[in-house]
Amino acid sequence: MRIKPFRLERWLLRNAELDLGGGGVSKLRLGDVLPSLDPDTLMKYGRTDGSDELKEKLMEWFPGIEPENILITSGTSEANLILNLTVLESGDHYLTENPQYEQTTGLAKAMGVKVDEFQLREDDAWRPDIEEIKEKINPQTRVIFLDNPNNPTGAVLTRDEMKAISEIAEDAGAYLHCDNALRGSELNGEPASTPLKFTERGVVTGSVSKLGATSPRIGWIIGEPSLIERCWVMKDYTTLGHSGLGEAVAIAILGKREQLIERNLQISRTNLKTLGEWVKKRLDFDWRQPDAGFTGFPKYEHGIGSEELCERLLTEKGVLLSPGSFFGKEQHLRINTGSRGGALAEALSRLGGLADGLSMR
Ligand SMILES: Cc1ncc(COP(=O)(O)O)c(C=O)c1O
Repeated sequence: MRIKPFRLERWLLRNAELDLGGGGVSKLRLGDVLPSLDPDTLMKYGRTDGSDELKEKLMEWFPGIEPENILITSGTSEANLILNLTVLESGDHYLTENPQYEQTTGLAKAMGVKVDEFQLREDDAWRPDIEEIKEKINPQTRVIFLDNPNNPTGAVLTRDEMKAISEIAEDAGAYLHCDNALRGSELNGEPASTPLKFTERGVVTGSVSKLGATSPRIGWIIGEPSLIERCWVMKDYTTLGHSGLGEAVAIAILGKREQLIERNLQISRTNLKTLGEWVKKRLDFDWRQPDAGFTGFPKYEHGIGSEELCERLLTEKGVLLSPGSFFGKEQHLRINTGSRGGALAEALSRLGGLADGLSMR
């Protein structure tokens, strides 16, 4: 299999004085959720489909699901990998929204799947055009992919939009894969809708990463039992067991879910205000206020490409942002709104200094 480098993830390894390239919130310390780990804990696999205790925590967060709807994985990343390996075959058609986080489409392309896009329209608050989805679906479409809440835009589909897209998937006999990694970051405090209520062909992936903990590497696939069973068969060949220690931490995190969400929202609200005020003062930047997530995705009115702009910002000003081109949208920058302290204000001031020296389009 030939697979292209995942540009964003390599870019995020660059060193920077001010690192605002990522898409998550300032990380929790282990002691914030689990003050003591019993040293007699055996360092074994978790049960390969996930422990009852972890599944119960997820059933509280996703009302209406049962244990047989859940497979625990090593992060959303493995959940997406397992799902793609389970449902896709070379020659299938895959319809994804754009912009979005490149993982699932990069994998699908490497598997010989034909990837097609429908656009989220910036001038309509990053909403999809349901008619465009209907036009682009065909008898070979195996998966419709949504990144909801969306990374990088932070837009959240309405319940009606989710229902309409679910119906399209159902009619076409396609799966509706909703990457729900940003669950818990919705600014109105309401979890974004998922396809689970609308179609048996709906499947959701996610993790505890965006609650503030990427190192437990605990995620999930939620879907109808026969699909989950097939995904479990696949998991025996990918990682077999997720981390047992990670599972203990994830249980503690989900046990404090509401409190952690409140902490995270306070961080993102403060930063979104800072970013909003900055954009308002600039003639060369504009944006749509996100509904969720830990990123803003402003567009700029300069001719320079987003990779070149980010490279210059890093080398000349010591600031790491992520280029819009890595999400399928040029002339945009993804700016992290999950940091604490004055990092964002300082990064924006340096970005403004660089942009002042650039010619407008
Ligand atoms: C939409 C989306 N999906 C998946 C991932 C991978 O997350 P995880 O740490 O759960 O593997 C990310 C990480 O940024 C993401 O933004």
